[in-house]
Amino acid sequence: MSTYGAISTSVPNLSPPAPVPRRKRGLTGRIAIILSSSVILLSLGVLFYNFTTYTPPDRFNGNYNDVTVESSSCAVGLPTNGISGYFNIPNSLSRYFYYFAASSTKSMKSAPLVLWMSGGPGCSSLLAAMMENGPCKVSRDKEGKARAELAKFGWNNKANVVWVDQPAGVGFSFTDEGDSDLMFSHDLVADNMLAFLFRWQERFPDSHNGELYIFAESFGGHYAPAVGRRYYDAEREGRAPPGLKLKGIGVGNGLTNPEIQYKYASEFAYKNTYGIEAITKEQYDDMNNNLLPQCEEKIHACNDNADPDNEDCLDAFIFCNTALDTPYVESGRNIYDVRTFKDYKDDLAAVTEFVTEMEVRTALDAANSVTFEACNKDVYMKFVFDWMREYDQAIPAMLDGGIDILIYAGDADFICNWMGNQAWVEALDWKGKDMFNDAPTKPFVLPNGTAGGEGKTAKVGKGGRLSFLRIFGAGHLAPRDKPYETQQMINKFIANGGVH
Ligand SMILES: *[C@@H]1O[C@H](CO)[C@@H](O)[C@H](O)[C@H]1NC(C)=O
Repeated sequence: MSTYGAISTSVPNLSPPAPVPRRKRGLTGRIAIILSSSVILLSLGVLFYNFTTYTPPDRFNGNYNDVTVESSSCAVGLPTNGISGYFNIPNSLSRYFYYFAASSTKSMKSAPLVLWMSGGPGCSSLLAAMMENGPCKVSRDKEGKARAELAKFGWNNKANVVWVDQPAGVGFSFTDEGDSDLMFSHDLVADNMLAFLFRWQERFPDSHNGELYIFAESFGGHYAPAVGRRYYDAEREGRAPPGLKLKGIGVGNGLTNPEIQYKYASEFAYKNTYGIEAITKEQYDDMNNNLLPQCEEKIHACNDNADPDNEDCLDAFIFCNTALDTPYVESGRNIYDVRTFKDYKDDLAAVTEFVTEMEVRTALDAANSVTFEACNKDVYMKFVFDWMREYDQAIPAMLDGGIDILIYAGDADFICNWMGNQAWVEALDWKGKDMFNDAPTKPFVLPNGTAGGEGKTAKVGKGGRLSFLRIFGAGHLAPRDKPYETQQMINKFIANGGVH
């Protein structure tokens, strides 16, 4: 039986949301030309890869209900304590968000709800559910066929976790309105995810202990603070889903304050903690003395003007990625892991093959009409104006209000490296800024006494705790490389509000 128990069939209507602002100009075509000619397209999640995608003949069968399976393994993609399906997001009649959830293997009612959003922008959260922190783990058997088995260290050990394909157009999520209905900013993502959490709470009010944690990875360094703040403000205004209180926010190898973080591209490429010089001294000096100041100026101009069509943001996106990331990319090293030249293409291909297999797809209740892509390029393109926006300013009010914040980073990642993440956390203006910066770096101690990482933490009065954690020996997708350590991390964060 489903651990989610009896499900109420009536989903009340939400009050009509504000109309979604549309872009004034159709810039996507132009951007595509600029990018393909001058920029190696970097995705803050995983590099794009052309899959042969499975497109079944039938139109989506119209059944938007969740399904559960009676299978203890992950043979068809869901364990016994898993559930998946769609919610209609009320901003649009035709926008459906796909979710995949696994309840706590201990006790659902005594564990919080953890929302997970993968980055990209445009990458499916199923990638995380199937190869990072989910209940299932995909790998290839001897014949090369993609299969899944139960993961040893899923984050659903002591939490009820829901992985959401968002925004519309990502993974199995879709919109019938086409390109014009795709999201293009973290603000719109926040609106949609607030609506999603309403839906979740209406449908599964007993699926947790009343506590909510919002986690995101990579480009999710925009999403988690934005969604968290939208939820936090909604709670204060009495407009949040009843019975679900925000407790904490987490970002893994995220991009949150680009102006600070891009400074560490040259630094990490040349002076990372692994002693690998991925770029030359000449490149390093040229970046620091010449390219970086120009990049910073452009990011600044982007953030000085909140107009969503501010072309300075596109300018910064193209310039900074070309000037500061390309030399590293040309070294041939994996942008997500300085230790290797091998990329993640096959991991993504394996997950894609697995979730689009007919039997698995049916068990996952994924719409037949949707062509699943690990990372959707159209969605990515929509976000190029949002890329350089900083959203760390959303955090101090939440810390004041008692929300715990955890910023963590696998320390082998180049693209959203730990140095840049630590730097923006140290620069964050909040009541505990000095306390945090004066705090000693402390080990993140695993139950057997070994340090799985190290970092800093501070807390002011009854406010929330801010923690930064560097995870030793992990790349961009930290839970993929260090599943046990990151499971310990999330368990500790939920139990104590910190990890040290
Ligand atoms: C402690 O556990 C970690 C993670 O499994 C492992 O890497 C480490 O070697 C262990 N340390 C000792 C002293 O057993």
